[in-house]
Parts: sequence; structure tokens; C-alpha cells
Amino acid sequence: MRFSIYLTLPLFLAGCSGRHNWLASAGAEADRVEGLFWVLLIGAAVIWCLVIGAAVYAHRRQVDPSLETQARRFIIWGGAVFPSVLVGTLLVWGLVILRDITADEGDLTVRVDGERWWWRVIYETSEGDVVTANEIRLPVDRTALFRLTADDVIHSFWVPALGGKMDMIPGRETRLTLTPVKTGNWGGLCAEYCGGAHALMRFDAIVMEQADFEAWLAHEAEPAQVAAGDPGYTVFAEEGCGACHTIRGTEAAGPVGPDLTHLAAREKLGAGIYEMTPGNMARWITETHEMKPDIDMPPYPDLSGARLDRLVAFLMSLD
Ligand code: CUA
Repeated sequence: MRFSIYLTLPLFLAGCSGRHNWLASAGAEADRVEGLFWVLLIGAAVIWCLVIGAAVYAHRRQVDPSLETQARRFIIWGGAVFPSVLVGTLLVWGLVILRDITADEGDLTVRVDGERWWWRVIYETSEGDVVTANEIRLPVDRTALFRLTADDVIHSFWVPALGGKMDMIPGRETRLTLTPVKTGNWGGLCAEYCGGAHALMRFDAIVMEQADFEAWLAHEAEPAQVAAGDPGYTVFAEEGCGACHTIRGTEAAGPVGPDLTHLAAREKLGAGIYEMTPGNMARWITETHEMKPDIDMPPYPDLSGARLDRLVAFLMSLD
């Protein structure tokens, strides 16, 4: 029995390394949650030792009726007053943190809509909304306010290294702030079971220097540069891809699936799960449900040869 516990331990600890490690905090909000965690953990360990110590002491001692008043006082203070004050303090502390990480303002506002099983991402700018998907970029040392909604079922938005998490609830808007303090790709995921491809509902959360972020956002706001008569776009249009997907700057304006205007500028494909490579793109189109089961996008197994190559080259040119 004990052997099997040792055997499975590395499996659990494996989840503690890498970019989803919330104990390696890279954001102000994650720092505060991490602080709360350590105080709870160490505090609980100290209290456990005291309680067990008292139990062992009581067990070993002879019963002495003359100490009854003293014992009753100990029970009232140690068993009722102290726990009440402690739990009350922790409650207030937790509520203060909750208030701060769900604050109403930030240096920039990002709306994220949870879909099955991907993320619609909309940056609010003074020139209007900038729509993208499945990748979030943030400037370092700035507070981003996330306004979270869900299209169909409950999802949960979580970037472990930065802070969170927060439920996304259909018909309601929830809020969360993230203030990253380190650049890097921190990775986010859906933390609420939402159906078949829940475990494949991920995204990259990339923290950039402020100037780089501004340049990225300005580029993201631009329409795609698609030449008239582009042979790949012709395949895209003939296969009806524009019924679901939008590519700004073309006639494709479908509202159902992820916006593809700057698709190839994203690091990953399929909502944070595959590297953005031509090979993966071709498989995504033809073996869609092997790549990600249950999703709404239909596979196009009959697309092959030059037509598939042209379509893939076109999609990979959308940077
Ligand atoms: Cu979306 Cu789990």
C-alpha cells in the first residue's frame, strides 16, 4: 500500500512544475493568494501540533479534580474563543483579497467569452474593439481588468502563475484583475469541467514589455493583408470556412468560430494545445476530431493535395 503511494507521488508532483505552477507566481494577485496559502498551511501545521500535543499530554496525566476550573477555562479559550477569532480574521483577510482581485478597474480591459471549447478574446481600445482568440497578451506591470462571460455552459478562467481563477457563467459577467510582474508565456486553462474537450481548453497567456504589447495590439487591430485572388483564400471561400470564421479585410465574417485575422501570429493552434505549424494546420483541417474530439468544427477529410497545401499556406500567412 505504502509502496503504491510512493509510486504515484511523482505523478502528482509532476503537475507542480512548469508554467502552470501557481506557486511560482509571476503576478501581483497570485502573490497574494500564495501568501494566504502559506499562512494557512503553516498555521494549520502549528495548530495541529498543539492539538495533538495537548491530547497526548491529557492522555498521560492523572485525572486531578482540583484542576477542573483551570481545564474549563482552557477549553473555552483554546476551543472556542481562539478558533473563532482566528477563523474570523482569515475570513476578513480572504474577503479583502477577493475584493482586490475582482476590482472594477484596470489599465486595460479585456473581455473573454468562454465557448465550447475555446476562448473569444476582445481587447477594448479607444479606437474600438480588437477581436482575437485563444491567446491573451498582457503588458508587464499593468493591471488588466478581465470581464468574463460564457456562451453556453460554465467555464472557469485561470492563469495559475498570474492569479485567478474565476468562473465564467452564461448570462452573467464576472470580473477578475491580473497584474503580471514578469514577462514570459504563463499559460492558462479552463478550470471548470465543461464537457468533452474541457481538458483541451487552454490558452497562452503571454506577458510582454509594454512597448512590445502596444505594437502587438496595434498590429492585431489591423485587417489581414490578403491579395486579391489569393489561391488559398479561394479554397477557404469555396469550402465555406467564412460561414463560421471571420478574417477582417476579407468577405469572411462568420461569428461562430475563432477570429482568424492574425491566426498565424498565435503560438498555438486549437485553443492552446498544438504548436502553430503547417503540419498541424493540415491535420487540424482534415482530422479535426482526432485532434480535438467533440468540437463544432467539421473535419474536411476530402481536402488534400494542392488544394490543402494552398489553404494551409494561406492560413499560415495570416500573421
Ligand atoms: Cu471550459 Cu472546462
